[in-house]
Amino acid sequence: MPIPTPLLAGNDGIHDPELPAVMRFLAKAVEAKDPCTRGHLERTRRYGLLLAAAVAPELAARPEVACGFFLHDLGKAGVREDLLGKPGPLDPEEWMAMREHPEIGAQILTLFRVPVGAAEIVRHHHERFDGTGYPAGLAGTRIPLPARIFAVADAFDAMTSDRPYRRAMPVERTLREIGEGAGTQFDPAIAEAFLTLMDGAGDPSRLLCAV
Ligand SMILES: [Fe+2]
Repeated sequence: MPIPTPLLAGNDGIHDPELPAVMRFLAKAVEAKDPCTRGHLERTRRYGLLLAAAVAPELAARPEVACGFFLHDLGKAGVREDLLGKPGPLDPEEWMAMREHPEIGAQILTLFRVPVGAAEIVRHHHERFDGTGYPAGLAGTRIPLPARIFAVADAFDAMTSDRPYRRAMPVERTLREIGEGAGTQFDPAIAEAFLTLMDGAGDPSRLLCAV
C-alpha cells in the first residue's frame, strides 16, 4: 500500500504559520539541499506526534517535541551534498560524515531561540534501543523518551519513501520490519503502540491528515 503523496501536497510544514519563522527557514534550507528530506520533516513530525499522543499524551503538546521532531535532520545542512543524494551505499568514511548530522543539528539549534529540549531530540534521534545507535550509543530508557518515540516514526517514513538508492517499501512490509526491530532498534512498547496505531488507521496518509 503506497502512501499517496498528493494528499500531503501543500501541507509541508514549511508554510505552517504556527511554526516560528526561523524553524521554517531552517527546514527550507535543509529540504533544498537534500531531496530525501522533502516532505519527510513534516510527515515524521505528524507520525511522531500521533505516536506521542498514544504512548505519552503529556509529551504530544509540548513545543520542544514538535520542534525537535520537525527539525531532526537539520544537521544535514552540514553534510556534503553528494552524500545526501548518493544513489548507492555510503562507504565507511562517507557514513562517518553522515552520522555527524544529529550532533551538527543539535549544535545549530543552540544558536536559535527554540524550545528547550528540542536539541536533545535532534541529537538522539538515531540512537537504538540496544545501544548500537549514534551519536552517544545510549541504550533503553537512557535514550530520551521523545527520541525513542521519534525513532519509530522516522524509520517508518524513511522506509515507505523512495530514496536515491532504493524504492519505497510497501507499508505492510515496513510494519513487519518495525515489529522485528522491537527490542533491538526500537523501544518494544513504542513499536507495539505504533503497530496498533497503524492497524486501526487503514491508510497512513489519512492518519497524517488528522494531525
Ligand atoms: Fe536523521
